[in-house]
Amino acid sequence: MRLDGKTILITGAASGIGQASAIKALAEGARVIGVDQLPNGIPDGVEPIVGDVTDEDTIARAIAAADRIDGLATIAGISSSGTAIDAIGFDQWDRVFAVNVKATWRWMIAALPAMRAHGGGSIVAIASQLAFGGGRRNAAYIASKGAIVSLVKTAAFELAPDGIRVNAVAPGAIDTPMLNRSMSRAEDPAAAREYSQNRHALKRFGRAEEIANGVVYLLSDEAKFQHRLRRDHRWRLARRLGRTFPKSPRQRLSSSGRSDNRRTCRDAVAGIP
Ligand code: NAI
Repeated sequence: MRLDGKTILITGAASGIGQASAIKALAEGARVIGVDQLPNGIPDGVEPIVGDVTDEDTIARAIAAADRIDGLATIAGISSSGTAIDAIGFDQWDRVFAVNVKATWRWMIAALPAMRAHGGGSIVAIASQLAFGGGRRNAAYIASKGAIVSLVKTAAFELAPDGIRVNAVAPGAIDTPMLNRSMSRAEDPAAAREYSQNRHALKRFGRAEEIANGVVYLLSDEAKFQHRLRRDHRWRLARRLGRTFPKSPRQRLSSSGRSDNRRTCRDAVAGIP
Protein backbone atom coordinates (compact mmCIF):
# COMPACT_ATOMS: atom_id res chain seq x y z
CA MET A 1 0.00 0.00 0.00
CA ARG A 2 1.19 3.47 -0.89
CA LEU A 3 1.17 5.01 2.59
CA ASP A 4 2.19 1.98 4.63
CA GLY A 5 4.01 2.98 7.82
CA LYS A 6 3.36 6.68 7.30
CA THR A 7 1.65 9.06 9.71
CA ILE A 8 -0.46 11.62 7.89
CA LEU A 9 -2.12 14.74 9.33
CA ILE A 10 -5.17 15.99 7.45
CA THR A 11 -7.11 19.17 8.27
CA GLY A 12 -10.73 19.55 7.22
CA ALA A 13 -11.19 15.79 7.66
CA ALA A 14 -14.89 15.89 8.55
CA SER A 15 -16.28 16.83 5.14
CA GLY A 16 -15.77 16.88 1.38
CA ILE A 17 -12.23 16.65 0.02
CA GLY A 18 -10.58 16.35 3.45
CA GLN A 19 -12.89 13.52 4.49
CA ALA A 20 -12.34 11.67 1.20
CA SER A 21 -8.57 12.15 1.53
CA ALA A 22 -8.62 10.76 5.08
CA ILE A 23 -10.56 7.69 3.92
CA LYS A 24 -8.20 7.16 1.00
CA ALA A 25 -5.08 7.62 3.16
CA LEU A 26 -6.41 5.05 5.64
CA ALA A 27 -7.09 2.62 2.81
CA GLU A 28 -3.50 3.10 1.65
CA GLY A 29 -2.19 1.96 5.04
CA ALA A 30 -1.47 5.26 6.79
CA ARG A 31 -2.05 6.17 10.39
CA VAL A 32 -4.27 9.22 9.89
CA ILE A 33 -4.84 12.07 12.32
CA GLY A 34 -7.84 14.09 11.19
CA VAL A 35 -8.44 17.64 12.35
CA ASP A 36 -11.74 19.49 12.07
CA GLN A 37 -13.90 21.91 13.99
CA LEU A 38 -16.85 19.54 13.48
CA PRO A 39 -16.99 16.63 15.92
CA ASN A 40 -19.03 14.50 13.48
CA GLY A 41 -17.80 13.45 10.08
CA ILE A 42 -14.21 12.47 10.79
CA PRO A 43 -14.14 8.92 9.38
CA ASP A 44 -13.92 5.85 11.58
CA GLY A 45 -10.35 4.71 11.98
CA VAL A 46 -9.02 8.27 11.76
CA GLU A 47 -7.72 9.68 15.06
CA PRO A 48 -9.81 12.81 15.64
CA ILE A 49 -8.55 16.16 16.83
CA VAL A 50 -11.55 18.45 17.17
CA GLY A 51 -10.79 22.16 17.08
CA ASP A 52 -10.38 25.28 14.98
CA VAL A 53 -7.36 25.07 12.66
CA THR A 54 -6.51 28.70 13.46
CA ASP A 55 -6.24 27.88 17.14
CA GLU A 56 -2.71 27.28 18.48
CA ASP A 57 -4.08 24.74 20.94
CA THR A 58 -5.52 22.63 18.10
CA ILE A 59 -2.14 22.66 16.36
CA ALA A 60 -0.32 21.71 19.56
CA ARG A 61 -2.71 18.81 20.28
CA ALA A 62 -2.36 17.42 16.76
CA ILE A 63 1.43 17.65 16.71
CA ALA A 64 1.62 16.05 20.18
CA ALA A 65 -0.63 13.17 19.05
CA ALA A 66 1.73 12.33 16.19
CA ASP A 67 5.06 10.86 17.24
CA ARG A 68 6.21 11.30 13.65
CA ILE A 69 4.75 13.17 10.67
CA ASP A 70 5.40 11.92 7.14
CA GLY A 71 2.66 13.87 5.45
CA LEU A 72 0.48 16.91 6.04
CA ALA A 73 -2.55 17.87 3.96
CA THR A 74 -3.99 21.29 4.83
CA ILE A 75 -7.47 20.96 3.37
CA ALA A 76 -9.70 22.93 5.79
CA GLY A 77 -10.94 26.05 4.07
CA ILE A 78 -13.81 28.50 3.91
CA SER A 79 -15.32 30.48 1.07
CA SER A 80 -16.65 34.01 0.74
CA SER A 81 -18.85 33.25 -2.25
CA GLY A 82 -21.78 35.47 -2.99
CA THR A 83 -20.13 38.61 -1.61
CA ALA A 84 -19.34 41.50 -3.93
CA ILE A 85 -15.80 42.84 -3.71
CA ASP A 86 -16.98 46.07 -2.10
CA ALA A 87 -19.31 44.30 0.32
CA ILE A 88 -16.72 42.16 2.05
CA GLY A 89 -16.40 43.15 5.69
CA PHE A 90 -12.95 43.56 7.24
CA ASP A 91 -13.72 40.72 9.63
CA GLN A 92 -14.83 38.42 6.82
CA TRP A 93 -11.68 39.17 4.82
CA ASP A 94 -9.49 38.52 7.87
CA ARG A 95 -11.28 35.28 8.73
CA VAL A 96 -10.93 33.88 5.20
CA PHE A 97 -7.22 34.68 5.21
CA ALA A 98 -6.79 33.31 8.74
CA VAL A 99 -8.32 29.93 7.88
CA ASN A 100 -7.11 29.54 4.30
CA VAL A 101 -3.67 31.20 4.31
CA LYS A 102 -2.31 31.77 7.80
CA ALA A 103 -3.43 28.35 9.04
CA THR A 104 -1.85 26.68 5.99
CA TRP A 105 1.44 28.36 6.89
CA ARG A 106 1.07 27.63 10.63
CA TRP A 107 0.35 23.90 10.13
CA MET A 108 3.15 23.69 7.60
CA ILE A 109 5.78 25.11 9.94
CA ALA A 110 4.40 23.25 12.95
CA ALA A 111 5.00 19.95 11.12
CA LEU A 112 8.57 20.79 10.08
CA PRO A 113 10.46 19.63 13.20
CA ALA A 114 8.82 16.17 13.07
CA MET A 115 9.43 15.90 9.32
CA ARG A 116 13.06 16.99 9.59
CA ALA A 117 13.61 14.49 12.41
CA HIS A 118 12.83 11.64 10.00
CA GLY A 119 14.62 12.99 6.97
CA GLY A 120 11.75 14.66 5.14
CA GLY A 121 8.08 14.52 4.29
CA SER A 122 5.36 15.75 1.98
CA ILE A 123 3.06 18.73 2.42
CA VAL A 124 -0.05 19.18 0.29
CA ALA A 125 -2.09 22.38 0.39
CA ILE A 126 -5.36 23.02 -1.41
CA ALA A 127 -5.52 26.02 -3.72
CA SER A 128 -8.20 26.41 -6.40
CA GLN A 129 -8.48 26.81 -10.13
CA LEU A 130 -9.99 30.21 -9.28
CA ALA A 131 -6.51 31.36 -8.20
CA PHE A 132 -5.57 31.30 -11.90
CA GLY A 133 -8.86 32.06 -13.60
CA GLY A 134 -10.44 34.56 -11.21
CA GLY A 135 -14.15 34.87 -10.68
CA ARG A 136 -16.85 37.15 -9.39
CA ARG A 137 -18.27 37.79 -5.91
CA ASN A 138 -15.68 35.72 -4.07
CA ALA A 139 -12.65 38.02 -3.89
CA ALA A 140 -11.42 37.15 -0.40
CA TYR A 141 -11.49 33.42 -1.17
CA ILE A 142 -9.89 33.74 -4.59
CA ALA A 143 -7.15 36.04 -3.30
CA SER A 144 -6.50 33.60 -0.44
CA LYS A 145 -6.09 30.72 -2.89
CA GLY A 146 -3.63 32.80 -4.92
CA ALA A 147 -1.67 33.37 -1.73
CA ILE A 148 -1.57 29.61 -1.13
CA VAL A 149 -0.08 29.08 -4.60
CA SER A 150 2.68 31.59 -3.84
CA LEU A 151 3.28 30.16 -0.38
CA VAL A 152 3.60 26.64 -1.77
CA LYS A 153 6.01 27.67 -4.51
CA THR A 154 8.16 29.48 -1.96
CA ALA A 155 8.07 26.72 0.65
CA ALA A 156 8.91 24.13 -2.01
CA PHE A 157 12.16 25.95 -2.80
CA GLU A 158 13.02 26.59 0.81
CA LEU A 159 12.27 23.12 2.19
CA ALA A 160 13.63 20.98 -0.65
CA PRO A 161 17.09 20.76 0.99
CA ASP A 162 15.37 19.15 4.02
CA GLY A 163 13.80 16.46 1.82
CA ILE A 164 10.38 18.05 2.27
CA ARG A 165 8.21 18.26 -0.84
CA VAL A 166 5.51 20.93 -0.96
CA ASN A 167 2.68 20.82 -3.48
CA ALA A 168 -0.71 22.36 -3.98
CA VAL A 169 -3.71 20.81 -5.66
CA ALA A 170 -5.84 23.36 -7.51
CA PRO A 171 -9.22 21.73 -8.09
CA GLY A 172 -12.03 22.93 -10.30
CA ALA A 173 -15.55 22.78 -8.84
CA ILE A 174 -15.95 19.67 -6.69
CA ASP A 175 -19.30 18.37 -5.51
CA THR A 176 -18.98 18.89 -1.75
CA PRO A 177 -21.00 20.61 0.96
CA MET A 178 -18.94 23.78 0.35
CA LEU A 179 -19.88 23.86 -3.32
CA ASN A 180 -23.53 23.18 -2.54
CA ARG A 181 -23.60 25.98 0.03
CA SER A 182 -22.08 28.33 -2.55
CA MET A 183 -24.56 27.31 -5.21
CA SER A 184 -27.49 27.76 -2.88
CA ARG A 185 -26.50 31.44 -2.46
CA ALA A 186 -27.09 32.06 -6.16
CA GLU A 187 -30.47 33.47 -7.08
CA ASP A 188 -30.87 30.71 -9.64
CA PRO A 189 -28.89 27.74 -8.27
CA ALA A 190 -29.75 25.49 -11.22
CA ALA A 191 -28.39 28.02 -13.74
CA ALA A 192 -25.30 28.55 -11.61
CA ARG A 193 -24.63 24.80 -11.44
CA GLU A 194 -25.06 24.37 -15.18
CA TYR A 195 -22.76 27.27 -16.00
CA SER A 196 -20.11 26.13 -13.57
CA GLN A 197 -20.18 22.54 -14.83
CA ASN A 198 -19.83 23.73 -18.39
CA ARG A 199 -16.65 25.63 -17.55
CA HIS A 200 -14.97 22.27 -17.09
CA ALA A 201 -13.58 20.23 -19.93
CA LEU A 202 -15.49 17.17 -18.70
CA LYS A 203 -18.74 19.15 -18.33
CA ARG A 204 -19.38 17.95 -14.80
CA PHE A 205 -18.29 18.64 -11.24
CA GLY A 206 -15.45 16.62 -9.82
CA ARG A 207 -15.99 14.20 -6.98
CA ALA A 208 -14.16 14.55 -3.67
CA GLU A 209 -12.61 11.09 -4.20
CA GLU A 210 -11.06 12.24 -7.45
CA ILE A 211 -9.18 15.02 -5.66
CA ALA A 212 -8.35 12.70 -2.76
CA ASN A 213 -6.58 10.41 -5.25
CA GLY A 214 -4.31 13.32 -6.18
CA VAL A 215 -3.70 14.29 -2.57
CA VAL A 216 -2.73 10.74 -1.61
CA TYR A 217 -0.49 10.41 -4.64
CA LEU A 218 1.36 13.59 -3.64
CA LEU A 219 1.70 12.35 -0.05
CA SER A 220 3.15 9.05 -1.25
CA ASP A 221 6.67 8.18 -2.32
CA GLU A 222 5.37 7.70 -5.87
CA ALA A 223 5.44 11.49 -6.13
CA LYS A 224 9.06 11.79 -4.99
CA PHE A 225 9.97 14.14 -7.82
CA GLN A 226 6.69 16.06 -7.72
CA HIS A 227 7.18 19.56 -6.46
CA ARG A 228 5.28 22.83 -6.25
CA LEU A 229 1.89 22.51 -7.97
CA ARG A 230 -0.65 20.19 -9.49
CA ARG A 231 -3.79 21.41 -11.23
CA ASP A 232 -6.98 19.53 -11.84
CA HIS A 233 -9.86 19.62 -14.27
CA ARG A 234 -8.36 22.48 -16.18
CA TRP A 235 -10.68 25.08 -17.57
CA ARG A 236 -7.99 25.92 -20.09
CA LEU A 237 -8.06 22.36 -21.35
CA ALA A 238 -11.54 23.03 -22.63
CA ARG A 239 -10.12 25.82 -24.78
CA ARG A 240 -7.21 23.73 -25.91
CA LEU A 241 -9.59 21.03 -27.04
CA GLY A 242 -11.19 23.64 -29.24
CA ARG A 243 -14.34 23.92 -27.18
CA THR A 244 -15.70 27.30 -26.39
CA PHE A 245 -17.40 28.01 -23.13
CA PRO A 246 -21.16 28.14 -23.33
CA LYS A 247 -22.79 31.50 -23.06
CA SER A 248 -23.00 32.59 -19.46
CA PRO A 249 -26.48 33.07 -18.02
CA ARG A 250 -25.74 36.82 -18.25
CA GLN A 251 -25.04 36.56 -21.99
CA ARG A 252 -28.03 34.30 -22.55
CA LEU A 253 -30.41 36.64 -20.83
CA SER A 254 -29.14 39.74 -22.58
CA SER A 255 -29.15 38.10 -26.03
CA SER A 256 -32.71 36.94 -25.50
CA GLY A 257 -33.66 40.46 -24.46
CA ARG A 258 -34.35 39.42 -20.87
CA SER A 259 -32.06 41.72 -19.01
CA ASP A 260 -34.38 42.30 -16.09
CA ASN A 261 -32.81 39.87 -13.67
CA ARG A 262 -29.26 41.14 -13.25
CA ARG A 263 -28.85 39.60 -9.83
CA THR A 264 -29.45 36.08 -11.17
CA CYS A 265 -26.79 36.68 -13.80
CA ARG A 266 -24.25 37.98 -11.32
CA ASP A 267 -24.78 35.01 -9.04
CA ALA A 268 -24.55 32.50 -11.82
CA VAL A 269 -21.13 33.66 -12.93
CA ALA A 270 -19.87 33.91 -9.38
CA GLY A 271 -16.50 32.64 -8.34
CA ILE A 272 -17.68 29.34 -6.95
CA PRO A 273 -17.24 27.98 -4.33
P1 NAI B 1 -16.21 21.38 2.92
O1 NAI B 1 -16.88 22.59 3.47
O2 NAI B 1 -17.03 20.24 2.48
O3 NAI B 1 -15.12 20.86 3.96
C1 NAI B 1 -14.27 21.75 4.62
C2 NAI B 1 -13.97 21.21 6.00
O4 NAI B 1 -13.07 22.13 6.64
C3 NAI B 1 -15.23 21.13 6.89
O5 NAI B 1 -15.29 19.88 7.53
C4 NAI B 1 -15.04 22.25 7.86
O6 NAI B 1 -15.63 21.98 9.14
C5 NAI B 1 -13.52 22.34 7.95
N1 NAI B 1 -13.11 23.65 8.42
C6 NAI B 1 -13.38 24.85 7.86
N2 NAI B 1 -12.87 25.82 8.61
C7 NAI B 1 -12.28 25.23 9.67
C8 NAI B 1 -11.60 25.73 10.81
N3 NAI B 1 -11.43 27.03 11.02
N4 NAI B 1 -11.12 24.85 11.70
C9 NAI B 1 -11.29 23.52 11.52
N5 NAI B 1 -11.94 22.99 10.47
C10 NAI B 1 -12.44 23.85 9.56
O7 NAI B 1 -15.31 21.92 1.74
P2 NAI B 1 -14.54 21.19 0.53
O8 NAI B 1 -15.27 21.54 -0.70
O9 NAI B 1 -14.27 19.79 0.85
O10 NAI B 1 -13.21 22.04 0.53
C11 NAI B 1 -11.99 21.55 1.02
C12 NAI B 1 -10.88 22.44 0.48
O11 NAI B 1 -10.87 22.38 -0.93
C13 NAI B 1 -11.04 23.91 0.86
O12 NAI B 1 -9.76 24.45 1.14
C14 NAI B 1 -11.60 24.52 -0.40
O13 NAI B 1 -11.30 25.88 -0.51
C15 NAI B 1 -10.90 23.69 -1.45
N6 NAI B 1 -11.54 23.71 -2.76
C16 NAI B 1 -12.83 23.24 -2.90
C17 NAI B 1 -13.41 23.27 -4.14
C18 NAI B 1 -14.80 22.79 -4.37
O14 NAI B 1 -15.34 23.01 -5.46
N7 NAI B 1 -15.44 22.12 -3.41
C19 NAI B 1 -12.70 23.78 -5.32
C20 NAI B 1 -11.36 24.23 -5.05
C21 NAI B 1 -10.81 24.19 -3.82
